[in-house]
Amino acid sequence: MTLRKQLKLGAMLHGVGSSTSAWRHPDAIADASVNFELYKRWTQKAEAGKFDLVFVADGLYITKESIPHFLNRFEPITILSALAGVSKRIGLVGTLSTSYSEPFTVARQFGSLDTISGGRAGWNIVTSPLEGSALNYGKKQHPDHDLRYRIADEFIEVVRGLWDSWEDDAFVRDKATGVFFDPAKMHTLNHQGEFFSVKGPLNIARSRQGHPVIFQAGTSEVGRDYAGKHADAIFTGQETVEEAVGYYRDVKRRAASFGRNPDHVVILPGISPIIGSTEEEAERKYQEIASLVSAEDALRYLGRYFEHHDFSQYELDAPFPELGDLGKNSFQGTTDRIKQKAKALGLTLRQTALQVATPRSSFIGTPEQVADNIQLWFERGGADGFMIGSGVPNGLEQFIDQVVPILQERGLFRTEYESDTLRGNLGLPVPKNRYSKEAELV
Ligand SMILES: Cc1cc2nc3c(=O)[nH]c(=O)nc-3n(C[C@H](O)[C@H](O)[C@H](O)COP(=O)(O)O)c2cc1C
Repeated sequence: MTLRKQLKLGAMLHGVGSSTSAWRHPDAIADASVNFELYKRWTQKAEAGKFDLVFVADGLYITKESIPHFLNRFEPITILSALAGVSKRIGLVGTLSTSYSEPFTVARQFGSLDTISGGRAGWNIVTSPLEGSALNYGKKQHPDHDLRYRIADEFIEVVRGLWDSWEDDAFVRDKATGVFFDPAKMHTLNHQGEFFSVKGPLNIARSRQGHPVIFQAGTSEVGRDYAGKHADAIFTGQETVEEAVGYYRDVKRRAASFGRNPDHVVILPGISPIIGSTEEEAERKYQEIASLVSAEDALRYLGRYFEHHDFSQYELDAPFPELGDLGKNSFQGTTDRIKQKAKALGLTLRQTALQVATPRSSFIGTPEQVADNIQLWFERGGADGFMIGSGVPNGLEQFIDQVVPILQERGLFRTEYESDTLRGNLGLPVPKNRYSKEAELV
């Protein structure tokens, strides 16, 4: 019997949520972003639901205008290390910037998380969209958008090289002979590049999955190329199935053009389902959460994508303002899309801001309707799986309790983990160590 292709599922651990006002909902836990017990509960719940991974986003610059979750939240590697100790099978994916880190430190951090968790670590590579980040790292200037991707390109090559510092059987640890390691199996990288100079070797060996899984979330042209070249998995943000199919084909094609197997690039659009026992109840839940967001909140939320631009200077009900290149050096893919959509649909500033701040996803409805839509995106070729966020308090839990069993019944999602590593569950191969004899034969 041939098995039906299976969906992959990730859970976004996003504290009080990615909205300006969700924390005010009667059922919201207002300190969720710094509540370890809650992160632990969500992770264990997602693991009981057989999710592939939990995902922690991040940022490096805040202002008074930032959304509540960004103001006071856990650093990804720290929280994931703690979660590694209270979970067994689920993948642990964290965001870390290549524009404001050193490859040696990052290779160590993810190498350690990968070993602590027994091969469940993933690194979401971001290039940091916010210009203000430079002010927190003693830099005079935030590198330009495309330069950030060039830095990221060299960064990942260095990190991968460092992760191969030790062949898998390098540590002999023979007490009788006093041989701790085999020097022939320790490799020094000696990297001298345009942006980094790193000697190596790294002071931690590879884990069972070889390299942590590489995630990426860029949507611009260079961002897509980067994803096609380097990413094992992609976290993306398409709004309709048509857009998702277009993005999916484009990135898989780019992966193939870099000589990679497109099946080894797992594409996961982020969705925040809102579930009700009837369609009306789900709609009511959406309206309840949307009504917490004022036009002023929405303008601030929109502003963050455009370098914290002050949108209150414009007439709310006039057409969306002409912004020139504003946003290009930040969330380029996202801001291009916002501008294009506002123009194409003739939206006002108010309409645009509210759509961005309280997006009306097509995943609002009964558990069956949400499952139907997931199946549609999956089978039409717009997704290999999904990142599940909480559009309303307890949204993740409701998805796990009510939608996952339907997907399992339809044979679209596992009822037991296939593997105990993240690579294994995502169906990704273990990268060979570049120095090992086996690698030479390939
Ligand atoms: C779905 C999605 C999630 C993202 N998550 C983060 C994040 O957690 N932290 C961050 O600094 N940037 C995040 N980004 C920003 C991207 O990593 C990237 O730096 C930015 O979008 C600029 O790249 P682009 O122009 O190629 O899209 C995210 C982008 C998308 C589309």
